[in-house]
Amino acid sequence: MSFLRSATRSVRARGRRGITAALLVLCLPAQALAMHPPAPPQTPLREACEKEVGYRPEPGQKGKDAIWAATPDEFVTRMLRMAGTSADDYVIDLGAGDGNFAIAAARQFGARSLGIEYNAELVKLAQCMVRGSGAEGRARVVEGDVFKADFSRADVLTIFLLPHLNQCLRHRILEMRPGVRVASYLFSMGDWEPDDMTAMGLDVAFLWVVPARVGGRWAFREPGSGGAAFTVDITQIYQKIGGEVVDGGTRHPLLGASLRGDLLRFSFRDAKGVHQNFTGRVAGREIAGDLRAADGESAEVVATLQGGPRPSPWAEMAPRCGKFYGK
Ligand SMILES: C[S@@+](CC[C@H](N)C(=O)[O-])C[C@H]1O[C@@H](n2cnc3c(N)ncnc32)[C@H](O)[C@@H]1O
Repeated sequence: MSFLRSATRSVRARGRRGITAALLVLCLPAQALAMHPPAPPQTPLREACEKEVGYRPEPGQKGKDAIWAATPDEFVTRMLRMAGTSADDYVIDLGAGDGNFAIAAARQFGARSLGIEYNAELVKLAQCMVRGSGAEGRARVVEGDVFKADFSRADVLTIFLLPHLNQCLRHRILEMRPGVRVASYLFSMGDWEPDDMTAMGLDVAFLWVVPARVGGRWAFREPGSGGAAFTVDITQIYQKIGGEVVDGGTRHPLLGASLRGDLLRFSFRDAKGVHQNFTGRVAGREIAGDLRAADGESAEVVATLQGGPRPSPWAEMAPRCGKFYGK
């Protein structure tokens, strides 16, 4: 229930309607979606493409692991915006349907994009929509199974599948580069709390930022200096971190520790009782950043991981997901 608590907390700022929407959606069983699947507007381009490929998908029609229903256009834009999509990004939509996310990412944000869709007829329709919308060259939709396809090169992932499918993709998402943004329409990602969410009416979408792996003991020093100035012991579950600093034989808790992608921040009181703020970037077994004291003094510091990273059971494949991976 901690996810629900946090979702509620983070929508509180967005007002009562937001809270109601989030609670309703979080409590809505997936069957409700199957009963009232969102349908896209019937545009001249869609009609022309349906004619060209001789296929008209029905909202709610069965798919390999999830039905076809379309994220409303307004929410497609909202989700891509929430993910901070730009022309530098490669956006991949998992279960691409008629290509709406791939087209919007290319047309509205100038991104390169790829949609992965299992249903061959939907793929043909999506490819026609990509051509007709002028997104060709930047957007592509291909036939594939999201559980077999390689989506590791994405900067932004968009998903409208089902809660258990999100959970079964989660360990692969957590293997991606820190900083990758993942936006899911309606559904959560198990106990991985979102970093952000957007709600309007009954619609809701969540955003996660893939966290760097920081669990372990880090020795911090000024570049070029010999021994460690202090060590930091970090515990991690997804993007939630905590721990303590060992400085001159004394231990101090990390205060206000946060991790967003590879951006790590924490504060602590050093051995002399001075409040220190650290901000830095994590790159594998190294961290580099600045240590700024409350009295205004600042220093460049680097850290190296001591020994191995801590085991991270939260990043492993969720129970009952083996069937999607032939296990
Ligand atoms: C709910 S629709 C979302 C369509 C589109 N992404 C959107 O948000 O409007 C889910 C899509 O995933 C497809 N799908 C289901 N299982 C899949 C799988 N294992 N691999 C690829 N696509 C899949 C379905 O055919 C359907 O088009």
